Amino acid sequence: MLKRILAPLVLACALLALAGCTGQTAQEGADSTSVSSGGNDAASSSDGSPAASEASDGKSIVVYFSATGTTEGVAEKIAAATDSDLYEIIPADPYTTEDLNYNDNLSRTSVEMADESARPAIGSDPMDLSGYSTVYLGYPIWWGEAPRIMSTFVESTDLSSMTIVPFCTSGGSSIGDSAKTLEQQAGTGIWTPGGRLSGSASDDDIAAFVERNR
Ligand SMILES: Cc1cc2nc3c(=O)[nH]c(=O)nc-3n(C[C@H](O)[C@H](O)[C@H](O)COP(=O)(O)O)c2cc1C
Repeated sequence: MLKRILAPLVLACALLALAGCTGQTAQEGADSTSVSSGGNDAASSSDGSPAASEASDGKSIVVYFSATGTTEGVAEKIAAATDSDLYEIIPADPYTTEDLNYNDNLSRTSVEMADESARPAIGSDPMDLSGYSTVYLGYPIWWGEAPRIMSTFVESTDLSSMTIVPFCTSGGSSIGDSAKTLEQQAGTGIWTPGGRLSGSASDDDIAAFVERNR
């Protein structure tokens, strides 16, 4: 109940920040392949700095959900900086612009985010992460939380003994407790604090984020 009272306040603040970043359409970039390889055969970074190299000795992958392309852009930057593979969580039923309307209490996202038990189905092929030691896990903030499809993912994927580095994009909200909630739902994995990254994060921002979450 408290969450439903506070959420509009959080969103109101966020929407002020969002005012300058409209223009994207729902599912922009959602046609990318589910998995793409960054190689993982050499720890390199976009600027060649050691600080942006792979976060651990093993293979790493960036797993992300992005409805309008912002998180996807950040995911690609992290993958390039850490020589990680990429896997996109694509909803079985993609989100339309109407679905993403946070001003409509009856929009799909409003209804899903009001229901803690909602678990939207994933349409992309299931991902076996057993060969990876580090998973960067990215998502947009919706109503102060991770989209419910992220819960679908963490509850259906074996993340045991992996380091999970959560990251989000948003109109201004911090990552808050969203990653802690996902950690509880996963019930496994070694979760770093992670954090919010701007859609326009620079190579230095990305390198600093990777370094902080080693
Ligand atoms: C349904 C919905 C709810 C949102 N709620 C918040 C919020 O609570 N706080 C915030 O800062 N931004 C919020 N946003 C803005 C997104 O977090 C932001 O635009 C994000 O970068 C979008 O990422 P994407 O393009 O990868 O989907 C919301 C957006 C949508 C569609």
